[in-house]
Amino acid sequence: MAFEKSEVLEIIKENKAGLTRELKEKAAAQREAVFGNSVYVRGLIEFTNYCKNNCRYCGIRCGNTKVNRYRLTKEEILDCCRMGAELGFNTYVLQGGEDPKISDREVCDIVYSIKSEFPDCAVTLSIGEREKDVYKAFFEAGADRYLLRHETANDSHYGRLHPKEMSLSHRKKCLYDLRNIGFQVGAGFMVGSPYQTDENLAEDIMFLQELHPHMVGIGPFVPHKDTEFKDFPQGSLNMTLVMLCITRLALPKVLLPATTALGTISPTGREEGILCGANVVMPNLSPIGVRHDYSLYDGKICMGDEAAECISCLGRRVESIGCKLDFSRGDSPEIKTKKA
Ligand code: SAM
Ligand code: FES
Repeated sequence: MAFEKSEVLEIIKENKAGLTRELKEKAAAQREAVFGNSVYVRGLIEFTNYCKNNCRYCGIRCGNTKVNRYRLTKEEILDCCRMGAELGFNTYVLQGGEDPKISDREVCDIVYSIKSEFPDCAVTLSIGEREKDVYKAFFEAGADRYLLRHETANDSHYGRLHPKEMSLSHRKKCLYDLRNIGFQVGAGFMVGSPYQTDENLAEDIMFLQELHPHMVGIGPFVPHKDTEFKDFPQGSLNMTLVMLCITRLALPKVLLPATTALGTISPTGREEGILCGANVVMPNLSPIGVRHDYSLYDGKICMGDEAAECISCLGRRVESIGCKLDFSRGDSPEIKTKKA
């Protein structure tokens, strides 16, 4: 169902004081119609917290000198995948800052090594902005998917969240390049980021409808104590759920995570996210020793749990709302898989 901007604004207005049953039921029905009761599992590996960027909301921005920086070696990353494989995972998400000390060739080598050892798995990269030929090399090395949240589709809002060297137009170009190369692409945004208006949220939906990504990451903004946005309020649970519902209705086949940030602002946030149309969870496979150092925002959950514990906890949560974890690759229903 494609929405006009005015319709999105109307839905936001109607649901601002509290999500209506009608919207929630529509979104849940849409998820079930496409995916049944499956919730896909992706293993998240946060492999570097070095970053050359200085996004104003982000705890690991280069300007934060209090961060204990780390980067995992290829062997450590492969160990995370091996642990994931033992638990039944078939998708690995390699996320990190834009680390200038990991060359594009090294990224290709990491992807190639994972795919050589686990040929049936899907590899997702989430390592920021690159030139098109570099993305192409990542794809040729075997990467299947790429997550790059657009963060906000409004130019001036983008400018208030980012340093002047970064631009929305370049971020969008990257997303279109990734799509054209053949990646399954994920865009997305934070709800309640500083200076965000309802109009901006409606613009995010308009942009998603234009790009038509395979995945959309939506989570609440959560302040980090060592950023200049430390005193801004966190995004609301209700508005995050509203935006998940609208996204599910606008893009019925999209893969939509119930994010860790959502679980951070509410103990049952991820379950509520699934009941509002989300259908992906991303337990953390990073070594426990480095998790505290990948601190994007304060209070992040699951910092000390072994992956096996995370999975059984998530399994119970998902079953409590009538769904089940699905460990298959969980490709977008809108593509033919590269491998098949
Ligand atoms: N460097 C990669 C990139 O730019 O896409 C991936 C890592 S980046 C830390 C992943 C996402 O974390 C960002 O796209 C942003 O939306 C989210 N994030 C960063 N700081 C946050 C905060 N304070 N609250 C909620 N989400 C945050
Ligand atoms: Fe680069 Fe956050 S500023 S990952």
